[in-house]
Amino acid sequence: MAHLELAALSVRHPAARAAAAAAIEGVDLRIERGESVAVIGPSGAGKTTLLHGIACALPPAAGALRLMGVVPWSLPRRELQRLRGRMFLAPQVPPLPPRQRVVTAVLAGRLARWGLGRSLRSLFYPADIAAAQRALERFDMADKLFERVDRLSGGERQRVGLARALVSGAELLLIDEPLSALDPTRAAQAIRTLCDAARESGATLVATLHQVEVARAHFPRIVALRGGRLAFDRPTAQVDDAMLRELYADHEDELTSDFEGAAPFVDALPSDAIERPVTCR
Ligand SMILES: Nc1ncnc2c1ncn2[C@@H]1O[C@H](COP(=O)(O)OP(=O)(O)OP(=O)(O)O)[C@@H](O)[C@H]1O
Ligand SMILES: [Mg+2]
Repeated sequence: MAHLELAALSVRHPAARAAAAAAIEGVDLRIERGESVAVIGPSGAGKTTLLHGIACALPPAAGALRLMGVVPWSLPRRELQRLRGRMFLAPQVPPLPPRQRVVTAVLAGRLARWGLGRSLRSLFYPADIAAAQRALERFDMADKLFERVDRLSGGERQRVGLARALVSGAELLLIDEPLSALDPTRAAQAIRTLCDAARESGATLVATLHQVEVARAHFPRIVALRGGRLAFDRPTAQVDDAMLRELYADHEDELTSDFEGAAPFVDALPSDAIERPVTCR
């Protein structure tokens, strides 16, 4: 059974003009439990909308979505909430209340799984400080444990958001543009950490990325969107420069110049790959 399955899924934003095309249109996608997948495509292609559709933040306008064996939008409200608690959606800019301590912000990743009482207590007396510390260490941020989030740089805030994903314990990690505020060295470290953490916990990882070369170097499978539609869905070893140039046609400025030099994900997929989770390298 696939961990998530989209069949001709279309998603509309509630605020979109009635005449506007759906942000995601007729997307078919099947991702197995434990797989790691990068979603790429030019700005406006629908990458964020796809994550929001999978996270049940936006309902399908057409088509079908199955998550962890169930049709989420047919569930009673409470069960839908419980299902959402098994996923973690990390937005590009994590919502961090000013004056909050980093430790509290990181442990907020657990709120969906904790009951109300424990969540409220943790706001004042952070529970499991050690877990927050371990997650921050992996992003080279251990010294910021008790810092206020409004005293962090943009890149540090982004890493707090990623540490939050790590402590969430979610089985489906949906990460939107995790590297946009990071320099290349930090970006490489962050994506490796994210991939390693997903592999260690057996979580499924779907990350949108602007950096095509990062997607090629770290992810075994690439899903490409253009104009809200699936452009291709391939093992990384089968994604060549011509496909990328076509994907980013008229958006060449978004295609970093070093993508052609990027080491592609070299492990050719075994023929039974679809049955087996394929994780980051
Ligand atoms: N809140 C919204 N209300 C209405 N339309 C929206 C909203 N958010 C996005 N859209 C539209 O949906 C389409 C897809 O947007 P989306 O944010 O998913 O693209 P993206 O691939 O994530 O782009 P980027 O790389 O810039 O983050 C775009 O045409 C956009 O204008
Ligand atoms: Mg986006």
